[in-house]
Amino acid sequence: MQAAIRRPQDLFPSTLFSVEAGASNGDEALLHPLERALVERAVSKRRHEFAAGRVYAHRALTRLQVAPGPILSDRHGCPLWPSGTLGSISHTEGCAISVAATSGRVTAVGVDVDRRSNAFSHSVLRHVCREEELRWISGLPGMLVPMYGLLLFSIKEAIYKCVYAATGERLGFGDASVVLDLSQGLFSARLLREVGEEGRDRLVGRVGCNEDYVFSGLWWPSSGPSAFPHSPLRHSDVLRNATAHERRLRP
Ligand SMILES: CC(C)(COP(=O)(O)OP(=O)(O)OC[C@H]1O[C@@H](n2cnc3c(N)ncnc32)[C@H](O)[C@@H]1OP(=O)(O)O)[C@@H](O)C(=O)NCCC(=O)NCCS
Repeated sequence: MQAAIRRPQDLFPSTLFSVEAGASNGDEALLHPLERALVERAVSKRRHEFAAGRVYAHRALTRLQVAPGPILSDRHGCPLWPSGTLGSISHTEGCAISVAATSGRVTAVGVDVDRRSNAFSHSVLRHVCREEELRWISGLPGMLVPMYGLLLFSIKEAIYKCVYAATGERLGFGDASVVLDLSQGLFSARLLREVGEEGRDRLVGRVGCNEDYVFSGLWWPSSGPSAFPHSPLRHSDVLRNATAHERRLRP
């Protein structure tokens, strides 16, 4: 299946966000001493990925003309962005991404990137997916199942970050029911737990993949139910799209 979004940078519109992405081996020397202190006891892989995320975050903020300063973390690990800004960070082996924006039209953002080689076993899939998601996934052509499991996982991680940053609520995997369509680069999610204001139970975001990674992102607009004009995706439509694509790929 050809994904509409092939680079994590393309998850976010440049009119709203400043995005920096690249290798996940960051230079610790570029960190603020207070940032370095957050990971001083961590293993080197963690320190390098943390450094990459922070260095990209600083670059993203510089492009927004925000004065440099340390990005520390709250007690649940959420980055604390400089006053008047917001953002999100994700890193995995080989790839890190940071997205930042000035507050105003957006309240919070969430991003996630995962390596495609981290495919899930069935027991992990059962932990990540709700019943309806599992039913949908198991109706997909077999070769797509591991990747779609990982895509759902990535989307739920991005949702977790965005919702936490917007409301302070920590969602579980069962708290969001997700539908995705890679050929449109879109996902929609229904939150099954009340968070934030009324009418915020529908989220829409973007999702993509390339040969090595899957990635997803969404944001929480400052007002109105959604920043996107699209209606929510339906499992039945998406299944039809995925199956049609798959048929075309067969010899
Ligand atoms: C926190 C969590 C989302 C991190 O995801 P991950 O795939 O392990 O790692 P990623 O590299 O993608 O993201 C790590 C970054 O997320 C950010 N982050 C951590 N906790 C966060 C939070 N509560 N809110 C927002 N962002 C957070 C941090 O910037 C962190 O990087 P840093 O420590 O270097 O600053 C994940 O470990 C977790 O606890 N998930 C909870 C369960 C869940 O996802 N439920 C789904 C609900 S629908």
